[in-house]
Amino acid sequence: MGKNSKSKNQKKKKKKSGPELFDEYYADIYGERWPSLKKALLAEKEHTILVNPYGDFNPNGLESFYQYPNLYVSPHKVTIEEKENEKLPLYFLDGASALAPLSLNILPGDDVLDLTAAPGGKSLIMAYALKGKGTLTANDKSENRRFRLHSVLKKSLPKEFFLHHVRVTGFDASGWCLHEKEAYNKILLDAPCSSERHVLESPEHLKEWRLGRTKRLAALQWSMLASAWLVLKPGGSLVYSTCSLSPLENDRVVEKLVKKFKEEIIVESPTLPLGEKTQYGTLVLPDRAGMGPFYLSLLNKKPKAKGAKGA
Ligand SMILES: C[S@@+](CC[C@H](N)C(=O)[O-])C[C@H]1O[C@@H](n2cnc3c(N)ncnc32)[C@H](O)[C@@H]1O
Repeated sequence: MGKNSKSKNQKKKKKKSGPELFDEYYADIYGERWPSLKKALLAEKEHTILVNPYGDFNPNGLESFYQYPNLYVSPHKVTIEEKENEKLPLYFLDGASALAPLSLNILPGDDVLDLTAAPGGKSLIMAYALKGKGTLTANDKSENRRFRLHSVLKKSLPKEFFLHHVRVTGFDASGWCLHEKEAYNKILLDAPCSSERHVLESPEHLKEWRLGRTKRLAALQWSMLASAWLVLKPGGSLVYSTCSLSPLENDRVVEKLVKKFKEEIIVESPTLPLGEKTQYGTLVLPDRAGMGPFYLSLLNKKPKAKGAKGA
């Protein structure tokens, strides 16, 4: 090998591996905080218990989760035996993620759309808040996951309410606005996301990690959010949420909506017991909160002005 080709080879940059690229990207965003955040992401998750108000479980003795209805701090995850003809007594979820449906302040009589609902924890919180009045449409494109969603709702809610007030559908959230517009006054879009906690837990996923995946997801999230906005009634509220750590999938997606619909959008900053404020929302991170990661943004649509068409 000649001298020249050797030096050319030496100059050739070594291709970075998935774990290296992942670390580099998040260290750039979180700076000195990244090592402790990464450690917290790999630690065991805390769980919160959602108690079925129509079931038999007695939560006496459990610590309330910030005084929210039906939610309790779980000392550990308990395996629940599902019995054929009995209501599901409990549902386990990440407490930070419960803040998304809670921020919508669902009231009896609301028409609620959960665009990406499976397996159904957040739908359940909203269904319980309806207290038998109003409607819940729980949608998910994945057939397998929708099967679980249907079963969770059916086994948790009173039969009459499930049959006459709840609809489980399987549409593409990005195209919903082509079929219905200004139809629901409360919408949750808990979008599919990078889910870095799961990436870190899986060596195969970490090996394959590239920023392109985050960018593709951000594009999908934007198409879903833009559609959801058109489906929201004037005067209604929409929560956009993800379990991603990347601003590209969080504030930057919301920012696009705020810029496009600036005349009719009000970004609200709800008072929450956990999390750190971002430009358009709240981010709960596990190194400080012991739960999450979870991002949410609460977006209100201004009511139509009196005299305007459709007001
Ligand atoms: C973060 S998970 C939702 C978790 C759920 N909200 C809960 O609390 O149990 C995102 C969901 O979006 C669904 N999904 C992905 N792409 C979709 C699309 N284009 N339209 C509707 N649902 C979609 C996935 O099947 C997945 O169940």
